[in-house]
Amino acid sequence: MKQLHTRLPGVGTTIFSRMSALAAQHGAVNLGQGFPDFACDPKLVDMVTLAMREGFNQYPAGPGAPVLRQAIADKIARVYGQQYDVNNEITVTPGATEALTTAILCSVHPGDEVIVIEPAYDSYLPAIMLAGGVPVLVQMEVAPHGGYSVPWPQVATAVTSRTRMIVINTPHNPTGSVLRGADMAALADIVRGTDILILSDEVYEHMVYDQGRHESICRHPELAERSFVVSSFGKTYHVTGWKVGYVAAPAMLTAEFRKVHQYNVFSVNTPMQHGIASYMVDPAPYLNLPDFYQHKRDLFRKGLEGSRFELLPCDGTYFQCVRYDRISERPEAEFAEWLTAEIKVAAIPVSAFYRDGKDSGIVRFCFAKKDETLALALERLARV
Ligand SMILES: Cc1ncc(COP(=O)(O)O)c(C=O)c1O
Repeated sequence: MKQLHTRLPGVGTTIFSRMSALAAQHGAVNLGQGFPDFACDPKLVDMVTLAMREGFNQYPAGPGAPVLRQAIADKIARVYGQQYDVNNEITVTPGATEALTTAILCSVHPGDEVIVIEPAYDSYLPAIMLAGGVPVLVQMEVAPHGGYSVPWPQVATAVTSRTRMIVINTPHNPTGSVLRGADMAALADIVRGTDILILSDEVYEHMVYDQGRHESICRHPELAERSFVVSSFGKTYHVTGWKVGYVAAPAMLTAEFRKVHQYNVFSVNTPMQHGIASYMVDPAPYLNLPDFYQHKRDLFRKGLEGSRFELLPCDGTYFQCVRYDRISERPEAEFAEWLTAEIKVAAIPVSAFYRDGKDSGIVRFCFAKKDETLALALERLARV
């Protein structure tokens, strides 16, 4: 048979899978891929188990179990003050990934431009390419001894009459930066008076530190009316393997979203939706998440302070970026491989989040790990 003509040239195994495999091969502490090495709350498991025993095992409603959509709408209203309609504006998805891809597939037509800010989470570009869209890349600025920021004037310059969507991500993977009120105002200035949609990836919404507030698009009605807002229970409840997320969007956008969603996955597994809905009745687990992860961030940063790594700011997410120019001149991917094989701590090169592989001498560690895992990694990293 003739070779299949690929829809996604240049796409191979993700860097996350490759670094995890390398970590396993070398017995390294895996601070590469972003997942917790600790258990979720046993109450959550009990609630899902109960849902199965109670017979919630058949197809749910395509847009999501009503009880979970209600819990999501209530949470958004309580935390961000925006009321989404349960029936027409909230859709449960198999993880944030499907929500992101579906939001792009349902709104981007061949030739439409989509502005993506790099470094960028790896699923955005393939989704844009599948839709036949044209990614327009704007790179974040990184201050010489500081952190990353979005250059809004460059985003404004990148807008053309073909621009269909701008993708934002806050708190931001991989940089750990967060957008503030001024960023939202700049974004509003850019899209005002246009038909540009916003896809807002907010999977780390409950991980903003130092009493900072998460600037969800939901807080900004002017932006919310043109936005798909995406989140993930995998991140919030330490269950990345469950792959349950959601999208909140105005009815007109949700209607189009659901057309694609319904013929792609139709629905998300039923017992987990019911279990998560029961668990959401108590807001404490998500309200306490910033403190939980801030402790880990501080532990990890303190441990690296005396080392030869240079810490970048980490205002949100469970990722810590570091410069390593005092240690090595190797390119990021090589350095990450060396660190995994020789020092036995895995990291992710930030170059993997750029289409052109831009190398800034920065790697990303994930600190969503048990304190003892972090202690072991720190002991090794301190010797570098
Ligand atoms: C920025 C960002 N968006 C989306 C996702 C995907 O989330 P999910 O596992 O719910 O599909 C991730 C996971 O790492 C992420 O970091």
